[in-house]
Amino acid sequence: APMWLRVNRQQHSREAYLDLLAEAGIEAIAEPLSADAVRLPVAVPVNSLPGFAQGAVSVQDLSAQQVADALQAPLGARVLDACAAPGGKSAHLLERDPSLQLLALDVDARRLQRIRETFARTGVGAQAQVLAVDATDTTVWWDGKPFDAVLLDAPCSATGIIRRQPDVLLHRRAEDIVALAALQARLLDALWTVLRPGGVLLYSTCSILRQENGQQVADFLVRTPDAQVQALPDAFGHEVAGNRQRLPGEQGGDGFFYARLVKAAQD
Ligand SMILES: C[S@@+](CC[C@H](N)C(=O)[O-])C[C@H]1O[C@@H](n2cnc3c(N)ncnc32)[C@H](O)[C@@H]1O
Repeated sequence: APMWLRVNRQQHSREAYLDLLAEAGIEAIAEPLSADAVRLPVAVPVNSLPGFAQGAVSVQDLSAQQVADALQAPLGARVLDACAAPGGKSAHLLERDPSLQLLALDVDARRLQRIRETFARTGVGAQAQVLAVDATDTTVWWDGKPFDAVLLDAPCSATGIIRRQPDVLLHRRAEDIVALAALQARLLDALWTVLRPGGVLLYSTCSILRQENGQQVADFLVRTPDAQVQALPDAFGHEVAGNRQRLPGEQGGDGFFYARLVKAAQD
């Protein structure tokens, strides 16, 4: 797999960062599919990347970077990242728009600490709220103010990242997938209730399995009359029932799934 970098817009334009890489003798290509993405044909240690410790750049697969493209939160929007640790996608959203009002949740308090580390290194998120809670437990953490946009980057089988972590194949069993699919469904149902009418919930996984992706969304649509899929373009992989799926290596990215779900506006 190539090494993918995400340039932190708050520090450098992608063009300016490509110049820094060239000066450091690191071969790099601007990726046309996503605005902050840079592909390194040959991987290098992160500490050799100009400004890495200062947060000028992060290592993040193309598919993960495109979550920000698919969510397209309006400027200054009230955004929920419901499964946020270690914070890669939250940081990307804030690098693109520091005026976002972001709430980041994760059930795993230890992993939640990594969100703070990610924010500290990239220099974003000083205003963001970070909470160690179960996102399905809305009565515990929600103040009743609806969100303009919700990111559900769901816990999943990680079958999309087998080219980087082949041991996924050794550890996953059929009953795990059933349990994960049930958790994803509970997360979808709970998070739908905190989204404002007309708002967008982006459901994403790094899975290639139907139960976690197309089937999960199809079942959600059946039980959620005010939800509709909004089509995403070819830049996000191939189409599956209005959603987008990438297989490992497709367009150079990890296996990934994106469903952009819009809540009907009230009349
Ligand atoms: C795919 S990872 C998120 C990656 C993250 N969005 C990023 O880009 O860095 C899924 C996360 O969901 C969290 N999680 C699992 N069940 C949860 C729940 N019920 N509520 C909140 N977070 C949960 C896991 O701890 C894990 O950190």
